Amino acid sequence: MSAPVLVFDSGIGGLTVLREARVLMPARRFVYVADDAGFPYGDWEERALAQRIVGLFGRLLERHRPQLVVIACNTASTIVLGDLRAAYPDTPFVGTVPAIKPAAERTRSGLVSVLGTPGTVARQYTRDLIASWAQKCHVRLVGSSRLAALAETYMRDGFVDEEAVRAEIAPCFVEKDGRRTDIVVLACTHYPFLVNRMRKTAPWPVDWIDPAEAIARRALSLLPGEREQQPDGGEDVAIFTSGRADAAARRLVRGFGLAVA
Ligand code: DGL
Repeated sequence: MSAPVLVFDSGIGGLTVLREARVLMPARRFVYVADDAGFPYGDWEERALAQRIVGLFGRLLERHRPQLVVIACNTASTIVLGDLRAAYPDTPFVGTVPAIKPAAERTRSGLVSVLGTPGTVARQYTRDLIASWAQKCHVRLVGSSRLAALAETYMRDGFVDEEAVRAEIAPCFVEKDGRRTDIVVLACTHYPFLVNRMRKTAPWPVDWIDPAEAIARRALSLLPGEREQQPDGGEDVAIFTSGRADAAARRLVRGFGLAVA
């Protein structure tokens, strides 16, 4: 069987990236890893989280021998990508970082918001992206402690508290000198699952930037000859680090065509 692509997140958020990756790499086998034992990543202290993830990858790489890894999580990527590449130099790692550059290129009003976990918006990495690419914009960083969990509940149980979504996204909407925010960067892979509710509860229409397709394209670009591959029949699997995925989580990943390992 050919080597898989391993997609990693703290929970179900990386499924938004897996969805796009499958469109671009239909023959590829995927292993999806949800570190649900560590969820939510948003509130972790940086060094402790980095050590946890580097440790987990020692076992994951040995067991699955992926050809490439996608860290489909902003919170993890903004702190641990460098450590992972240094610890496992033979494996290519593709990360997910807030799409600040495309937002700065696209905004007409010059007012952009970045909506992520408290961890992602506090990171130096995110601030450096703003300094490099968005100096001419007014960028508001909005850290939400609740949205990732709201997305998990929505995807597992089909329920979402719309008032909570409204309250969490409200700080993204800024009016200044007669101009308004026109782009919100979804800087957490869980959030695209809630984007319809965000549209519905937003005070005015904006573009919501979901980087999933760009990440999948980047992964594809590192796998030469991928488009010519034929499927080898291997099954896609999901792994939950808790080892205790409940019925709702199992149902959800099965709906994505993943067997629970
Ligand atoms: N999906 C993750 C991200 O992109 C984080 C969710 C969490 O664990 O808090 O940042």
